[in-house]
Amino acid sequence: MAGSGAKTFGILTAGGDCPGLNAAIRGVCRAAHDRYGMSVVGIADGYRGLIDGDCRILRPDDFSGILTRGGTILGTSREKPFKARAREETNDIGEDKVAAIKATYQKLKLDCLVVLGGNGTNTTGYLLSREGLNVLGLPKTIDNDIMGTDRTFGFHSALSIATEAIDRLHSTAQSHSRVMIIELMGHKAGWLALYAGVAGGGDIILIPEIPYDIKAIARHLEKRTASGRSFSIVAVAEGALSVEEAAMEKKERKKYRAEAGAPSVAYRLAREIEAETGLETRATVLGYTQRGGIPSASDRVLATSLGTAAANLLAKGDYGKMVALQGDRIGAVELSVPAGKVKTVPQDHYMIDTAMAVGTCMGV
Ligand code: F6P
Repeated sequence: MAGSGAKTFGILTAGGDCPGLNAAIRGVCRAAHDRYGMSVVGIADGYRGLIDGDCRILRPDDFSGILTRGGTILGTSREKPFKARAREETNDIGEDKVAAIKATYQKLKLDCLVVLGGNGTNTTGYLLSREGLNVLGLPKTIDNDIMGTDRTFGFHSALSIATEAIDRLHSTAQSHSRVMIIELMGHKAGWLALYAGVAGGGDIILIPEIPYDIKAIARHLEKRTASGRSFSIVAVAEGALSVEEAAMEKKERKKYRAEAGAPSVAYRLAREIEAETGLETRATVLGYTQRGGIPSASDRVLATSLGTAAANLLAKGDYGKMVALQGDRIGAVELSVPAGKVKTVPQDHYMIDTAMAVGTCMGV
């Protein structure tokens, strides 16, 4: 429900960093300051800065010239204030973290809190809005797993980084006639592995949404060998799991993986493929390079558009929302939409059929 516009707002970045965060900060702050005359309070290190009162006025120079910079000028953390409350813990000064946040919000005389983050960040924003704070969210993550938006900023940059890495693996795989496995981020969703696997021409793409059958993978590799292909590329999401693991309880799966002694799925899979096929296999975990460096042009445009849309909502006093990409327009959804949820790849998503149509094995 729109009320009177904001005069002063706080802005924070929380959760994993990604390219595009500074572009989004710039979008919100320049539009709010230049178009609507608002004051901006930068909050350090995500919700931790609100708990500790680690905040400062941002001047135009602070949010100019940052469009192309990676990371976040504000810093970030994975502080989960409500989690502590659930465990009845308090921060080191014995104070309830949520109470500390509300106190800082009041002390700074904020009209609204703008949070740039993923599932956890927007969920915390939603819970704070239920505590009476005015909150606006922006969908940030390389995982692209936020409900309510067609895409998150950070995803396209990570997709470009991952695709370039897969391109590079083709030449070494061919030179050594090997199976090369590349493990990509994405937390519990397979968006990054699916899209990078298609973009990079992966022969096998494994995502958490489709537990893999090592026998099916072996058959596919043996078919490739029989048809004269001397190497294969496997793109595997960090959350991918075998059909056997999918049938296990969480505790049993953790024990099984500890006993396997491999640090992550790529190494377990390499061992399984070598055992099943005898093919020489190597694993690469791309890791944090997927979150580093400058934003892609697409992410700069998306982040700036989402940021300026948030400034427009601030001006209208239209709080309790997350701005979102909806088709080819920027809209907004209630914060309850992404709260507590993860957007995984639907079984009937067209990109799965696209991959299979060009002969990619999805592990089944
Ligand atoms: O959410 C982004 C992400 O990079 C995930 O893909 C990954 O699983 C996680 O963050 C890593 O978390 P951290 O940065 O705390 O190690």
